[in-house]
Amino acid sequence: MEIRKVETDKKQYLTLLLLADEQENMVDRYLERGTMYVLEDNGIKAECVVTDEGGGVLELKNIAVEPEFQGRGYGKALVEFLIETYGGQYGALQVGTGESPLSIRFYEACGFQRHHLVKNFFTDHYDHPIYECGVQLVDMVYLQREL
Ligand SMILES: CC(C)(COP(=O)(O)OP(=O)(O)OC[C@H]1O[C@@H](n2cnc3c(N)ncnc32)[C@H](O)[C@@H]1OP(=O)(O)O)[C@@H](O)C(=O)NCCC(=O)NCCS
Repeated sequence: MEIRKVETDKKQYLTLLLLADEQENMVDRYLERGTMYVLEDNGIKAECVVTDEGGGVLELKNIAVEPEFQGRGYGKALVEFLIETYGGQYGALQVGTGESPLSIRFYEACGFQRHHLVKNFFTDHYDHPIYECGVQLVDMVYLQREL
């Protein structure tokens, strides 16, 4: 298994990016300024994008694993790679997600704790309602863990 930085043509991984964030113009808000990594293990299995949000905060903007390879530790391996790579350079790793038990349990399993809410983020910024597990996402839940 190898994790490497993607320097050019990040959009070649658009299908994976859209798994985590289904509206392309929302992905465009962070993709170019972000640092992207892909995890390769007999082909590309997962990707993530991080951004410097200032104030010592590194934000995980997008993380996705190929559907047929989810639940095998690839997502957690990417988070652990970020902790090793950026530990000491930033105070915290932050992630924003909808109020969906699936993603929140994954982040909690990776050591994140709930930090703050941005009310109505999904209804204010997306051009259509976003559903996960049949529940409409409204507020953005931010979770953080120390780096
Ligand atoms: C969310 C996602 C990135 C997780 O990656 P993954 O490779 O499937 O997860 P892992 O196998 O690394 O799981 C790591 C831990 O999280 C837990 N976990 C993962 N998904 C979970 C879920 N849906 N419910 C409960 N726990 C979950 C695992 O049990 C594991 O716990 P452990 O370390 O105690 O054994 C991946 O499933 C995915 O791409 N989902 C679709 C895109 C998406 O929703 N991205 C996040 C947007 S906010």
